[in-house]
Amino acid sequence: MKKAVILFSSPHENGCTKKLLDVFLSQCRFEKHIYNMYKENPAPCIACGQCETDGVCFYSDMTSLLRDVFSADHVIFASPVYNYSFPAPMKAFLDRLQPYYSEEKTAPVRKGFLLATCGKSGKFSMELMEKQSRIAFSELSAEYCGCYFQTETDKDITLQNDAICKVKKLAALFFSD
Ligand SMILES: Cc1cc2nc3c(=O)[nH]c(=O)nc-3n(C[C@H](O)[C@H](O)[C@H](O)COP(=O)(O)O)c2cc1C
Repeated sequence: MKKAVILFSSPHENGCTKKLLDVFLSQCRFEKHIYNMYKENPAPCIACGQCETDGVCFYSDMTSLLRDVFSADHVIFASPVYNYSFPAPMKAFLDRLQPYYSEEKTAPVRKGFLLATCGKSGKFSMELMEKQSRIAFSELSAEYCGCYFQTETDKDITLQNDAICKVKKLAALFFSD
């Protein structure tokens, strides 16, 4: 059976991001491994340069998580927007992909999707987080397949019917093969 690995980076286990993720995953019939990045809490990159010389990170706390990601068919980032970007534990994860940054890229072998929620309009964050995700997915040998931003959650935390339909359609397409 195919496998989807989800990196969930909201501190709220039942907040807006989780609600959005639940709708998206309602269309997934694959095996699902959900990682709570606040529990994983990867150590931040210390720029020691070891990955440049040895190709291996100084820390080993992401080894099993990365093994799972690199054996998945679908990878999903599900995150609230914090200061226009990802919350600290997910940002640490992204920084820790540095060992893969300069590796020669082969054709992607998995698919990646970004789900995000933000309190306001999210205009600048969308652009920034999409760029960050494109780079991260490429480092994870994943094809960036798109994103969905649930905006204005400060006003209304419920997902309206039209949003639910749109998210389900995007998910059905993403999980289609
Ligand atoms: C520390 C912090 C920083 C935030 N920064 C932004 C921001 O830059 N832009 C924005 O639109 N919302 C921002 N928000 C609001 C969250 O993105 C929003 O409430 C989100 O939907 C929360 O998701 P959750 O219910 O899964 O925690 C911020 C919230 C916090 C706690």
